[in-house]
Amino acid sequence: MTTSTRITTPFHAGSTAADVIAGTDLTGRRAVVTGAASGIGVETARALAGAGAQVVLAVRDTAAGRHTVEDIKVTTGSEGVTVASLDLTDPASVEAFVTAWEGPLHILVNNAGVMATPETRTPRGWELQFATNHLGHFALATGLHGALAAAGGARVVSVSSSGHLFSPVVFDDLHFTERPYDPWLAYGQSKTANVLFAVEAARRWSDDGIAVNALMPGGIRTNLMRHIGDAEMAQFGAHLQALIGEGTQPPELSLKTVEQGAATSVLLAASPVVDGVTGRYFEDCDEAGPHRPGTNTGVAAHAVDPEAAVLLWQVSEQLLA
Ligand code: NAI
Repeated sequence: MTTSTRITTPFHAGSTAADVIAGTDLTGRRAVVTGAASGIGVETARALAGAGAQVVLAVRDTAAGRHTVEDIKVTTGSEGVTVASLDLTDPASVEAFVTAWEGPLHILVNNAGVMATPETRTPRGWELQFATNHLGHFALATGLHGALAAAGGARVVSVSSSGHLFSPVVFDDLHFTERPYDPWLAYGQSKTANVLFAVEAARRWSDDGIAVNALMPGGIRTNLMRHIGDAEMAQFGAHLQALIGEGTQPPELSLKTVEQGAATSVLLAASPVVDGVTGRYFEDCDEAGPHRPGTNTGVAAHAVDPEAAVLLWQVSEQLLA
């Protein structure tokens, strides 16, 4: 996100969450992982708990969350994992979570998300993917800002996606009321918002010692795919083709395990290897370069535009006011 040297680490696409956290002691650190009852969030929470952190699974489905607590306890021996209710689409739920939080927070992983959902708006009229993936996490992170600042050296991780390449944040029509709904453009917009959030939060919160980074976890088969039928798959193919160039052979799909998918999140959440790094976008455990035409990797200029980042912050505050 800056013009400075691209940050690389000893880790790579094949590294797992356990690999990147090996040798790191998180005893005395407190972490929140959203959406931690499924997929990448489970493995993120497991790695942090295994390194000694106290971890709160902030989840919609608290029964599934309790199941995850037991699972993590068995695999790590950790007694420090608990569940709290959080529905990111409901501002009252986010506020309740924030209000109940006491003391410092060292690690916040904004991991929960939905993808390519059918056209849906929340009771406040917000498009579901923007509301879940961005606005809910924006409210959560800004609500917890005091706790993060109190930690001294806190880390915030914003789980984005290469899907951000599909769309900038369209400020004139955030909720698809002026244009036909497209599940992939809506996902792309929300995932661009996740990167822009990291850009602006990094700037605003650097004096508080809070590092904020965004990432693409990789392609991992999880419950995230549950809304994708044949029609959505065809639409995805069309968007991908438009991105990489008509007639260009799409890159071969290589999937990661969930443990590999959690690695970049865990790296940014807790590894000393990236101490002091903030406001960047990572993929496969390294900072990504700028997106190059003909590829579906790298970070889009629209996702690291500082003016868009400021505007998104203002618009988000207004919507949540
Ligand atoms: P998943 O579907 O297994 O987990 C997502 C979690 O978010 C679920 O536990 C779900 O209940 C939760 N969630 C959804 N709406 C919520 C709400 N309103 N309030 C609270 N929690 C809510 O998916 P996965 O794959 O683990 O995704 C995690 C993150 O990784 C997402 O942000 C996703 O966009 C991102 N990602 C995943 C990729 C993949 O290939 N799996 C690729 C690129 C990005």
